[in-house]
Parts: sequence; C-alpha cells; structure tokens
Amino acid sequence: MLSAVERKIEQFVGELNDKEVVSLYRKLPQGKRLRAKLILKIAGTSLSAIKTAAVVEMIHAASLLHDDVIDDAYTRRSKPSLNALYGNKTAIMLGDILYSKGFFELNNISADIAKIVSNAVTQLSLGELKDVSLSKTFNSSREMYLDMIYQKTASLIEASAGAAAVLAGKPKETYMVYGRNLGLAFQMIDDLLDITSDAETLGKPVLHDFMEGKTTLPYIYLYEVLDEAGQQKLVSLHGKVLSSSEQNWIKVEMEEKKILMKCFSQAKELIEEAVELMNSHGETALSGIAMEMIERDF
Ligand code: FPP
Ligand code: MG
Repeated sequence: MLSAVERKIEQFVGELNDKEVVSLYRKLPQGKRLRAKLILKIAGTSLSAIKTAAVVEMIHAASLLHDDVIDDAYTRRSKPSLNALYGNKTAIMLGDILYSKGFFELNNISADIAKIVSNAVTQLSLGELKDVSLSKTFNSSREMYLDMIYQKTASLIEASAGAAAVLAGKPKETYMVYGRNLGLAFQMIDDLLDITSDAETLGKPVLHDFMEGKTTLPYIYLYEVLDEAGQQKLVSLHGKVLSSSEQNWIKVEMEEKKILMKCFSQAKELIEEAVELMNSHGETALSGIAMEMIERDF
C-alpha cells in the first residue's frame, strides 16, 4: 500500500500546478519510506492514514533538502543531492514548498494529528540547530548527543507512530515509546555506519561526520576511555580533513576498545525494548520493522 502514499504525494505536489516543482520532486531519490510504512502498519490504509503518511514523508523530504544544504552534502542516497545539482537556493525553496503544502494538507486531516505532527517539526528544527551548534567544538556529553538525536530524528518517527495510533484508536503513548526507541536506534546506527561502512555503500566518504564536526556517540565513548594524550589527539582531529593514517588511528582505537560493539548494543537494546512492547500488544508486524533497523548494511 506504499504505492497509495506515493500517489497521494504526487497528487499533492501536482495540485501546486507548477511544472518545475513536479520535475524537481521527481528527481529526489526515494528513501526507505520508513515513516510511511510505520503509519500504515499501525493505522491501516484508511484515507486519513494515507494522507498522514504522505504529509510526514513530504516533511521528511523537506528536512533532508535543508539538511543537505546545512551539511554541504553533495550526495544523498548515493546520488547527487538536489543542492549539488541545482544549487542551495532551489533546494531550500523545494523544501519550503513541500513543507508548507504538507502543513496545508495536515490541517485537512484532524486537529489532533496536526498538533502531534507540527510539534514534531518544531522539535526536528530545534534538534538540527543543536546539531549545528554542537558541531562547532568537540562535544563530550552523551546527554547532549542523545537529546539532539531525539529531537533531530526520533521526534518525527515518534510522532508518526503516535499519530497513527490516534487514527486507529490505539494507545498513543505506547506507540510513541516504540517510535522514539526506533528513531534513537536509527540515528545511532546511521552514525555507526559512517564509521564502519565503506564510501561506496555510504555514498559519502567514511568518517565524514567527524570531519564535519559531528561528535557522534562512538567518538564520545572513545574519548571517555582514552588516556590524556589520546584525548588530546582525538580533540585535535575534530572538524578536520583527516589523512588516511589519522583515519586509521581512530578506527583502530575504536576497534581495540570495543566502542563500535558498545554503541551497537545500545541501539539493539532500544530495539529489543520496542519489539517487546509491540509483541505484548500483539503487533508482530511492528516488531519486524524494528528489526530491519538493526539489520542494515553494517
Ligand atoms: C539528518 O541528519 C537531518 C534530520 C533528520 C533533520 C533535519 C531537520 C531540519 C533541517 C529542520 C526541519 C526543516 C523542515 C523544512 C521541516 P544527519 O545530517 O545526521 O543525517 P544524514 O546523514 O542523513 O544527512
Ligand atoms: Mg546530513
């Protein structure tokens, strides 16, 4: 039924009566549609569920368009990003168009759904700002990292699950916990893949996050276990283009100190908690979505 969501997005974009926008939208690489899948699995395929899924995916696409401008990212899902192809101005405006049309349509669903989703978009934006601010210096605080990824990534997944539960008359809080755990684990795994994967699979250079200034969880844990000289070395490498021997040093230290395993276990714990919660509500299909999260290309 994901195709019904694709058609709904096409319809919403088509209603803007602008050929350039339709053609730009079609150039966006389609993602995994995780949020739409989640909504349909929880709420079924009523028109409201399909509309909610379409709006959430439009907002998500808008946020990535802006994120690629903010991060100076020239690839997205192994293809040139829209800012790389057409420049920042076009990417920002397409983001604004998708986002505002999404908001317009959100108001036609219900006030409850509009509140849940719009609150998450505020969180998303606050989280992105935190990500930018935290990237200016080496961040050694786990708490700040976790707060930031909650806002930047988990909030929209949490809201998707919560909104879908409301549509289906299911307990909102329970589904929001599930969505939150999934979102946190998703970002943790994403941050791990930046270290463990290869440039070809990632579609961007490895250790790109750290070179960009992002001190993700593995770097925070590594910092915690290094001696003083090691800590100084790690901090001195933050936000720089790294030579292959510097990259190698980081990777070897992380391997030796079992940092990657530790981060993976933490993400896995969140997923297992989510799976248990869903199993106890008889939602085994939702456990499947959660498991997909930790079974990504590692
Ligand atoms: C990706 O993070 C970014 C996000 C999940 C959120 C971005 C949010 C905004 C730009 C603010 C909201 C704006 C609108 C228009 C709704 P990442 O850079 O860690 O992940 P990546 O590797 O996929 O780029
Ligand atoms: Mg980014």
